[in-house]
Amino acid sequence: MSDSDDNKPASPAQSDAQGESARSNQMWGGRFTAGPAEVMERINASIGFDQKLYAQDIAGSMAHARMLVSAGIISREDGEAIREGLGAILREIESGDFAFSAALEDIHMNVENRLRELIGPAAGRLHTARSRNDQVATDFRLWVRDAIDGIEKALQDLQRALIDQAEKNAETIMPGYTHLQAAQPVTLGHHFLAYVEMLGRDRSRLADARVRMNESPLGAAALAGTAFPIDRFMTAKDLGFDRPMCNSLDAVSDRDFALEFLSAGAILAVHLSRLAEELVLWTNQGFQFVELSDSFTTGSSIMPQKKNPDAAELIRGKAGRVIGALNSLLVTMKGLPMTYGKDMQEDKEPVFDAAETLLLVTTAMRGMIEDLKSVPENLLKATQAGFITATDLADWLVRELGLPFREAHHVTGSLVAEAEKRGLNLAELPLEAMQAVHQGITEGVYEVLSVEKAVASRRSYGGTSPKEVREQIERARERFL
Ligand code: ARG
Repeated sequence: MSDSDDNKPASPAQSDAQGESARSNQMWGGRFTAGPAEVMERINASIGFDQKLYAQDIAGSMAHARMLVSAGIISREDGEAIREGLGAILREIESGDFAFSAALEDIHMNVENRLRELIGPAAGRLHTARSRNDQVATDFRLWVRDAIDGIEKALQDLQRALIDQAEKNAETIMPGYTHLQAAQPVTLGHHFLAYVEMLGRDRSRLADARVRMNESPLGAAALAGTAFPIDRFMTAKDLGFDRPMCNSLDAVSDRDFALEFLSAGAILAVHLSRLAEELVLWTNQGFQFVELSDSFTTGSSIMPQKKNPDAAELIRGKAGRVIGALNSLLVTMKGLPMTYGKDMQEDKEPVFDAAETLLLVTTAMRGMIEDLKSVPENLLKATQAGFITATDLADWLVRELGLPFREAHHVTGSLVAEAEKRGLNLAELPLEAMQAVHQGITEGVYEVLSVEKAVASRRSYGGTSPKEVREQIERARERFL
């Protein structure tokens, strides 16, 4: 019996579940005469959710068995029987033929118990020099690593969809906002590319977390390492880890890899939520900047005219789950003394839920973006309100009349007030009216008052002009796709 199995109840029910005679737990029953209370079994069992770790658990056991043979700790015959049995269990689980038992608590004991049924006593040698503490830490790292790979791929696909839309809308003019007030004209392509950048950083945060988590806890055993002559480098390599973790206490007790995943995931969820919110706004009757496809909207059972942006709303809403998952695990971990505590069994559900949610929202967002159609007339119309070229006018006063910017700002403010009084936009304000505010103003000013000219003039690196947007698209394709 390994150290990991201290403070565990016996479980006669588990044997019943396996169709055997009632007796105390065969994993640690030597010390126990009675089984657990029914409610104890319910609070203790994690198999309802940790069965998701089956492939990682079996891979970890395969690697461990191979290493035990190579280190001369178990015989070649036992090693072979164990590996064959594990292979059979993998097939049983994948074909849905495996009967998971709550009495066997978790995925580790379900697999080991089945192995005993399949190959007999040799199964008992698999747990030599190992504990469920290093086993679960290993399985979970492998699982999170795979989850990151899946989400990263989905993010790249979403970036591709956004870049394609940016290309289609490199010249589509729209209001850029600050405070959700029209600020300066920009292009819709530029706007989409902003999200491409955010998602690029999300990918890089996930990739960073992946690098740090890619070390193997296996062989830390319960907490202190083991007296058996194991080879942790061999199992680490076998499982695709870069190296074994350096400290056995740390290996079994920290979940910062999961927290990093959830932190990066929460930031990603927030980015997607902001984009989702914009889609909700942009499909509102007051904007009508874009149209979403029927595939990503729903109708109303009572109001025939409705086309609701449900997918966007749900992406916005589901950010709450992912942020909640991060909070949940942070709070679970914050008061735990070293090393493993059973509290840590609570690490899995939030991570599983967050990973599933992130993949779902990223994929749904990609679908919405791919199908989306912009409505350039409405985007352009929205730039006609709000004196959106006022900055261009102030810049012109600086450039052409040599005014200090602060004074130009003041003059422009007066021109805006004058236009507002007359119910005109800046480009419609007659020259005499302008000259009444500042007599140096000439006909040439109208050149910069059109939104097309304003947008085209912003050619600084990263700026909004169609030319610069096309260059950003080139760079984005090279960096991200
Ligand atoms: N089901 C457990 C978990 O998820 C596995 C580790 C149990 N270790 C122990 N010493 N009881 O954390």
